[in-house]
Amino acid sequence: MKVGIVGLGYVGLPLAVAFCEAGHEVVGVDVSAQGVEAVRAGDSYVEDVADARLTAALPRLVATTRYAELAKCEALVVAVPTPLTRNREPDLGPLVSSARSIGSVLQHGQLVVLESTTYPGTTREQLVPLLEESGLSAGVDFNVAFSPERVDPGRTDHTLRTTPKIVAGLTPECHRRAVALYGEVCDEVVEVSTPEAAELAKLLENIFRSVNIALVNELAVLCDRMGIDVFEVVDAASTKPYGFMRFEPGPGLGGHCLPVDPFYLAWRAREYGTPTEFIELAGEVNQTMPHYCAEKVAHALNEHSKSVRGSCVAILGVSYKAGVGDLRESPALKIMQILRDQGATLAYHDEHVPALTQLELSSEPLDVVLDGCDAAVIITHHPGVDLQAVVDRAPLVVDFRGATRGLTTSNVVLL
Ligand SMILES: NC(=O)c1ccc[n+]([C@@H]2O[C@H](COP(=O)([O-])OP(=O)(O)OC[C@H]3O[C@@H](n4cnc5c(N)ncnc54)[C@H](O)[C@@H]3O)[C@@H](O)[C@H]2O)c1
Repeated sequence: MKVGIVGLGYVGLPLAVAFCEAGHEVVGVDVSAQGVEAVRAGDSYVEDVADARLTAALPRLVATTRYAELAKCEALVVAVPTPLTRNREPDLGPLVSSARSIGSVLQHGQLVVLESTTYPGTTREQLVPLLEESGLSAGVDFNVAFSPERVDPGRTDHTLRTTPKIVAGLTPECHRRAVALYGEVCDEVVEVSTPEAAELAKLLENIFRSVNIALVNELAVLCDRMGIDVFEVVDAASTKPYGFMRFEPGPGLGGHCLPVDPFYLAWRAREYGTPTEFIELAGEVNQTMPHYCAEKVAHALNEHSKSVRGSCVAILGVSYKAGVGDLRESPALKIMQILRDQGATLAYHDEHVPALTQLELSSEPLDVVLDGCDAAVIITHHPGVDLQAVVDRAPLVVDFRGATRGLTTSNVVLL
């Protein structure tokens, strides 16, 4: 089979490599010429795809910026970004533009599957009409399906192959073909009756996480007032073998999914006059966490008779989660900006993020950032960082991840 992947990012690149590894030919299309060059050179910019794996896939993988190359594919998978506008409304710009481009090369008999996370109705109401501008008719001349991506960058215990894949076609034939397509790269395909149900299932998964993280974050703020260690509370509650699921408190949400996706549903729900209060409230609580964390640093410095202005603050971990270099919506950026606005001098250490252009900073070795700092702030705890060295060398450590619990020290302030 020849499979086209549109959008070679965190979702599209691993998928392209998976189809190659399953023995298929892949055409990967991306608007980023730089990204296409990197793929061609076997230089992976996605942590979950090692350079060696990408290089091994290259004989079967054509990376290009030209949509015309998709004409010979049997199936096309769309994995372009679905961000929010400045006003926090769905921005279907990349989706609309990729659908138009696909429409201009669409062939009889092709299957088009949307993987981008979006609100219920997008596949039928947005994607299909744009593809039909080709003059071909969906469900008759070509097939359409929706199959949400569930990849969790950095995770190794559940892979694309072992994570059940939800699939829903526009018609029974669309459905049959999409199920067969994903059967090539996934051990289990979960069949859902409509694209709308599949679209909403993906949003439910992410909203579930957002709401539960907001709950423990709210608890963290209360615990601080009450003088209780929230991490100990979560540890204790997690010993219940049923009816409880562990979520970690922290400095706020990051990444392309959790801070964004829930608002796709909130926006759509307004059209139906149904408020989605859990979504909005979770968003509010999670969005205030970086501000709360910056205040916590200021307060901790004050306890050491220091002001934020004039203090040297070493930031440890700036990506939004451990083990990856993804900076999208990372709460670290917000916390750092607030501290800098208040007059702190910042340095950071993050082996996954060599440079922070927006703050004009580069990652420095751990020793260097700790040297002479007034406080070290653990925002993201990447594996391999020597925390004993951190608590031994920094006069004050503010730990938003509970990473230093268990170390013998008296200079740590927890979230
Ligand atoms: N990253 C995740 O963990 C994750 C998990 C599940 C679902 N998703 C969803 O998958 C979708 C893609 O996310 P991602 O993280 O892979 O995004 P990404 O930004 O990493 O990758 C998207 C790629 O699409 C390219 N692109 C943009 N417009 C294009 C166009 N018109 N034509 C061709 N290429 C275009 C970009 O250059 C980029 O390389 C989003 O809807 C996201 O919500 C992401």
